Amino acid sequence: MGIFLVKGETRLKGQVTISGAKNAVLAVLPATLMADGETIIENAPSIDDVRVMGQILAALGAEVKENTSGFRINPRGIRNPSPPFELVKKVRASSLFLGPLLSRFGRAEIAMPGGCDIGPRPLDQHIKGLHALGAEIKIEEGFIKAQTKGLVGAPIYLDITSVGATENIMMAACLAKGTTTIENAAKEPEIIDVANLLNAMGADVKGAGTDVIRIRGVKSLRGVNHTIIPDRIEAGTFMIAAAATRGEVIIRDVIPEHLEPVIAKLREAGVQVEVGDDSIRVTGREEPYPALDLKTLPYPGFPTDLQSPMTALLTTAQGTSIIKENIFENRFRHVSQFERMGAKIKVEGRTAVVEGVEQISGAQVKATDLRAGAALIIAGLMARGETRIHGAQHIDRGYEHITAKFNSLGAQITREPSNLPGE
Ligand code: UD1
Repeated sequence: MGIFLVKGETRLKGQVTISGAKNAVLAVLPATLMADGETIIENAPSIDDVRVMGQILAALGAEVKENTSGFRINPRGIRNPSPPFELVKKVRASSLFLGPLLSRFGRAEIAMPGGCDIGPRPLDQHIKGLHALGAEIKIEEGFIKAQTKGLVGAPIYLDITSVGATENIMMAACLAKGTTTIENAAKEPEIIDVANLLNAMGADVKGAGTDVIRIRGVKSLRGVNHTIIPDRIEAGTFMIAAAATRGEVIIRDVIPEHLEPVIAKLREAGVQVEVGDDSIRVTGREEPYPALDLKTLPYPGFPTDLQSPMTALLTTAQGTSIIKENIFENRFRHVSQFERMGAKIKVEGRTAVVEGVEQISGAQVKATDLRAGAALIIAGLMARGETRIHGAQHIDRGYEHITAKFNSLGAQITREPSNLPGE
């Protein structure tokens, strides 16, 4: 809750250790309910979205113990396939309970989920896939009501490469009878992490990380120990922040391969990026960066979640940058906030045209979604003067210890409570 105060004209310097991937753990937690025994999840980030998913599991009847490094989840007590409305509304990823609940209990009833306001985020591909596996699904009064007499493997072609739909169908198919193929599947590293967990539990999932995933159904799944992969979006945020503030930062505990599109774009801008086995050193340059063209795409393309942080960097680039958002329809709400800081940006449909200015200045701004919040921190660090970012709660949903991590790199970010309603 509250406001972030960010002191401007700060160069980031030092080392930062990356937490476990939010988007992996958000799918891993629902998967644990399909096991017959206890699963231990290590390296889960301590962030609001993850806590809510843990609370949902507990509300369903699982025994959930949270500690500093993750969770112990014993799903044996789960009897209730309807996660509470108030919790589901807080996290979009709560839709990922649909597949596991259906396959384990033959029934699921979930409110249409909440999450970031970045445009319409339909669930039609999730529903299409689960329907193909033999679920009857109705949407009534804002709830998704699904039931089945037993899921049966089927071929499924996704019309849209959706991360969530791929995960939901992949999880549901693990306990279905027979073989499921998901074509045009999403290839994000987080999907591989979930598939690795499922396989360790005894599932038979092949091809995760490619666009065809084959799942042979098994009778049961067992509890296991699983360590979540590093968060490539958190890592990318710090890489862009290091470059944007002309600093020098070593980003530790990463899988550099997951960051290739970000490394390539930063190098294109003249940023020095040195890649180690599990670390990346980013050294910004003194001269203004050149304008760039950027297109967001499904993995291995440039991630939509780093579009707004990269836009922050480009606000002071020399020339005109063209940013095309191909994943979400309405992911330019941060633009008006950058404009308050003196940036010159025009949005037409899914394209933002950024005309670089010499310097941006601190202002009162609002985090419109999680990643936009992180982007405003970067802009605040670049700007002349102080930036007050309202809506800090959006940022807490996805970044672990964000102020402490930035401040350990020499930033001066403090928090204060807000007196605005709802903040
Ligand atoms: C996941 C990530 C999110 C990231 C996004 C895209 C998690 C918890 N969140 O979100 O951080 O920004 O991938 O990389 O992993 N779509 C449909 N119908 C569907 C499903 C999706 O039309 O049934 C559309 C969406 O509106 C969007 C696009 O497909 O335009 C991609 O969405 P999707 O990959 O499903 O994103 P999420 O899984 O919600």
